[in-house]
Amino acid sequence: MMSREILFTPSQITEKTEELGREITANYSGRPLVLIGVLKGAFMFLADLARAIDLPVEIDFIRVASYGDATTTSGTIRLTKAPEIDLTGKHVLLVEDIVDTGSTLTWLHQYFKEHHAESVCMCALIDKYERRQKDVMVDYSGFRVEKGFLIGYGLDHAEQFRNLPAIYEVLPDE
Ligand code: PRP
Repeated sequence: MMSREILFTPSQITEKTEELGREITANYSGRPLVLIGVLKGAFMFLADLARAIDLPVEIDFIRVASYGDATTTSGTIRLTKAPEIDLTGKHVLLVEDIVDTGSTLTWLHQYFKEHHAESVCMCALIDKYERRQKDVMVDYSGFRVEKGFLIGYGLDHAEQFRNLPAIYEVLPDE
């Protein structure tokens, strides 16, 4: 049995999400905002963040696949589900559960620029920086974490644990 240690409780996540929501509400007032959830990991954070933003927003999703083994990202990224909303002239806020190497974020920035978004910013609940390979900017970040394999609140291990209401670090076998 895999052992795990709690990193962020549901109430810490709620508090942080509400803080980010207030900041986003203040910054995007009067501008057409589209939240783009990056599937699958972001589904839960997006649902909570959207409710913490007090503005009219449009919501859509994108899904990309990255090649490599389960725990490392190779940097080769392929689109598997495109957003459906016309983004021309709109302000895109990408919503991620976690930024790790930064490869996905770099690819997404390019994609949304090419699809005529007026601006592209990123909100990630967790900014995990030890393995960062790309010089990317997380405009709104919840928690900064150095390293670790994290599960829960959307984050999976072999597709399990996404439904846990807290975020845990998986501990190495003893
Ligand atoms: C995770 C996460 C980001 C990406 C970040 O997705 O949701 O999209 O990895 O890693 P990077 O900064 O190294 O590119 P994952 O590929 O695990 O897919 P999932 O969201 O469907 O679980």
